[in-house]
Amino acid sequence: MDATSQRLLMCRPTYFAVDYAINPWMDPSAPVDAALAVRQWEQLRQTYRDLGHTVEEITPVPGLPDMVFAANGGTVIDGKAMAVQFRDPQRADEAPAYRAWFEAAGFEMYDPKHVNEGEGDVLLAGDHLLAGTGFRTAHAAHAQLQEVFGYPVITMQLVDPRFYHLDTALTVLDERTVAYLPEAFSPGSRAVLRRLFPDAVHATMADAEVLGLNAVSDGRHVVLPAQATDLAAKLRDRGYETIGVDLSELRKAGGGPKCCTLRLRQGKASK
Ligand code: ARG
Repeated sequence: MDATSQRLLMCRPTYFAVDYAINPWMDPSAPVDAALAVRQWEQLRQTYRDLGHTVEEITPVPGLPDMVFAANGGTVIDGKAMAVQFRDPQRADEAPAYRAWFEAAGFEMYDPKHVNEGEGDVLLAGDHLLAGTGFRTAHAAHAQLQEVFGYPVITMQLVDPRFYHLDTALTVLDERTVAYLPEAFSPGSRAVLRRLFPDAVHATMADAEVLGLNAVSDGRHVVLPAQATDLAAKLRDRGYETIGVDLSELRKAGGGPKCCTLRLRQGKASK
């Protein structure tokens, strides 16, 4: 399997905190070690650099504790960047900050007409865009994504509130394969996944409960939460190299490695 070197956007968790609850992982009364969150995030960034990826950074904004979750900042494919619209008012001000970054970086900009939480819910798998709905991104956003990017969009209905973004329930491993938690999807979406990806890796609930599916693959190396040991073993059996990272502090906000990482896809060649 060939590894692709990727261009990634990240946001240092300088102002990270859990002071509101917009998913079942978040408990504002539980302590968070913000300094540890920064160290764990730095390790993730170093892991990407060691794999040969390019990491760019957006400046964190005070008062936006979830801004570290860069995957929710947009969807960037073939040089086009679609900005986001958050469901929750607590995250609303992240959208213009990310939008300004994409614009300054020279991407062709598109604005969302509906709730759309970016790559948290929109994953490019080969020539299909898998788009989650049920908790965050509105179903109506899927039609706009198809119009903007020109990839067939496949709606994925999420049913478990713990797996509220598509990237907490499914990982794209390479152009042909994904890993996912079947129980996170409606019966119809499960049938679609079986049809599109007959060779997919099925994760267990125990893997998903440590956000094991919130992983980043370059087609050969898979960066995933260190606690997802069964999933890592299955991936190694399939020939992937796994790299476990510990993001325990960020998990208190419901986020893992993929949430902290936005893929910047320049043009067709670097898809
Ligand atoms: N606390 C954030 C939220 O609930 C976590 C976002 C995680 N991001 C992701 N791509 N799953 O919005």
